[in-house]
Amino acid sequence: MQENEIQNNKLQILGKLAASLAHEIRNPLSVIQLNLELLKTADKKEEVDESIDGCLSAAKRIQTLIETTLDFSRTQSTERSPHNLNDIIKSAADILSVKMNAAKIKLSKDLDQALPFININKNKILQVALNLITNSIEAIGSCGEIKIRTYIEKHENSELVVMMVEDNGGGISDDLKEKIFTDFFTNKKNGTGLGLSVCKMILEEHCASISLDSQLGSYTRFFVKFKLSGTI
Ligand SMILES: Nc1ncnc2c1ncn2[C@@H]1O[C@H](COP(=O)(O)OP(=O)(O)OP(=O)(O)O)[C@@H](O)[C@H]1O
Ligand SMILES: [Mg+2]
Repeated sequence: MQENEIQNNKLQILGKLAASLAHEIRNPLSVIQLNLELLKTADKKEEVDESIDGCLSAAKRIQTLIETTLDFSRTQSTERSPHNLNDIIKSAADILSVKMNAAKIKLSKDLDQALPFININKNKILQVALNLITNSIEAIGSCGEIKIRTYIEKHENSELVVMMVEDNGGGISDDLKEKIFTDFFTNKKNGTGLGLSVCKMILEEHCASISLDSQLGSYTRFFVKFKLSGTI
């Protein structure tokens, strides 16, 4: 590769990193804002404590995001270790619980307790779960249901560890099913259109796949599938 090609590549990656950092920080930031709003009217000690804890964990998430992005731009490597996908889903659900409660969205989790550990970068996969659940919250608007399932999908020669995020929001029309994964595609007033392309990028780094099934006006299901081979 020519020197200027390498430089161009680096600039492209840095541009994507900066954009994705800006995108990811908006999630915990809105959680902090919502908790501070709640704190204004909280009169019971438990309510105050709950809002403060919500702010603290969201602030910690921003800190981790900045640290991992700095790490990434330094080394461009993805450190991985064995994790249980169910734990990551529980963390994501905790982080977004204030948002879901405020929007009267019910979350049900059906997590396979026998799920094997997979070799992943915990923070990045948490980012994927947060993006998918946030999209579901936004698709529902208010009053609806999100279901998250984990399970093992057995094929003749392989096994996949699957996370499914389902919502009963507006659904996605067939002509948009591919477009939504491209950088900056959004149909939201304040969206960056980077959420799903960041998910795709992270999952490609993990040799995992993302796919969807949706019925306009009825439901949307996103499937994230990790290969079990090469994991522990
Ligand atoms: N669960 C869903 N239900 C319906 N439409 C969805 C769902 N998830 C994604 N989409 C569609 O895909 C588009 C792209 O999603 P993506 O997360 O990449 O960006 P965004 O949500 O629009 O912006 P941002 O993530 O920056 O807030 C959304 O604008 C929306 O039209
Ligand atoms: Mg999004």
